[in-house]
Amino acid sequence: MNNFNFYSPTFFVFGKERENEAGKYVKRFGGSKVLIHFGGGSVVKNGLLDRVKKSLANEGITFVELGGVVPNPRSGLVYEGIDICKRENIDFILAVGGGSVIDSAKAIALGTLYDGDFWDFYLGKQVEKALPVATILTISAAGSEGSSGSVITHENGMLKRACGGDAMRPVFSILNPELTCSLPNFQTACGATDMMAHVMERYFTNTKNVEISDRLSEGILLTVINEAPKALADKNDYESRANLMWAGMVAHNDTCGVGRDSDWSSHQMEHELSGLYDVAHGAGLAVMFPAWMKYVMHHDIMRFAQFAVRVWGCEMDFQNPEKTALHGIECYEKFMTSIGMPIRFSELGAKAEDIPILVKTMGLGKGTVGSFVKLTEEDVTKIYELAV
Ligand code: NZQ
Ligand code: ZN
Repeated sequence: MNNFNFYSPTFFVFGKERENEAGKYVKRFGGSKVLIHFGGGSVVKNGLLDRVKKSLANEGITFVELGGVVPNPRSGLVYEGIDICKRENIDFILAVGGGSVIDSAKAIALGTLYDGDFWDFYLGKQVEKALPVATILTISAAGSEGSSGSVITHENGMLKRACGGDAMRPVFSILNPELTCSLPNFQTACGATDMMAHVMERYFTNTKNVEISDRLSEGILLTVINEAPKALADKNDYESRANLMWAGMVAHNDTCGVGRDSDWSSHQMEHELSGLYDVAHGAGLAVMFPAWMKYVMHHDIMRFAQFAVRVWGCEMDFQNPEKTALHGIECYEKFMTSIGMPIRFSELGAKAEDIPILVKTMGLGKGTVGSFVKLTEEDVTKIYELAV
């Protein structure tokens, strides 16, 4: 196991109707003038926004609202949010929504305390400070409610880029699984795919003797494999929604990533897809992950065989571990199809002729992406081709 630091200070408030305590927690964490940030309207329609506003008002907390975050959130609204925060002396941002809303809130929080362009952080500038951000989560997926990351698409060139830093971890996150019952099945499935991907990016590692994080990872994967179909079959199944909600958080707050090298090349390849075609992040991952697995599995066939046996229940073929490894990848693809996810470019609306564009915007040049196998532009091209 590698040496590591782990700082995960978010206070979690989990369970039914807990959003009504938002005001109490904003006050406890020092907020007096709040920017409430939300998306395209789901929280208006289902009354959540009104309940949150009432809760803040009950504590005497004033607020300004900024809605309109789109999936794959854009820089334009971030600039608008930064202007509002500076003009109105906002001291706290409350994100009410999914990963896109939370990531946009984190970007605004960074930009408000910085004199330059917030995009500098997404081009590699180190994150040191940000306004406090809290979340009321409405979809189990990205894990941004507990993570140090944010992903934004810049409208100038539609570049989708990530940045990270502990200053961006939410101070508190309210997780009420009931809020996810109104999700369309497609979004529930995208969320399940994303949490599995967050675990798998960490699972496929070159670091040895990481039994604790291997076993935690396998537990999360098995949970999602068991619970996602139940949530899809019955939207109001509270228990499966609750298990998925906590799984999404632990899949990405780095509990499973500490002490081991993580890969992240499938995420990078997906970000180029959602940057170019504006596809849902989970759907893009469902397409890229099996292609990546097939391309790199010979690097450590026994790790892929372990994934097949422990996660998918495949029988180990000691004479032919490659067969076991391939069986695991096949099980992953079958599961994706069963929950309504695409596994090929054509199902996403992506085109083979755009592969050179996807590779170019990644901007690798002579560098590499990933750590399990360090991929060059030529490798990335071949993986996109496998996904066609
Ligand atoms: O905008 P509204 O109207 O709220 O609708 C949203 C949106 O259309 C809808 N939705 C959310 N909760 C709902 C609901 N509809 C009905 N009922 C509810 N309860 O679902 C749609 C998708 O929402 P979005 O926030 O985009 O989903 P998700 O949480 O999957 O976030 C995706 C974004 O997170 C980034 C992705 O790249 C993508 O941009 N990621 C962020 C990470 C991080 N910060 O750590 C890590 C991830 O790997 C990921 O890259
Ligand atoms: Zn993701």
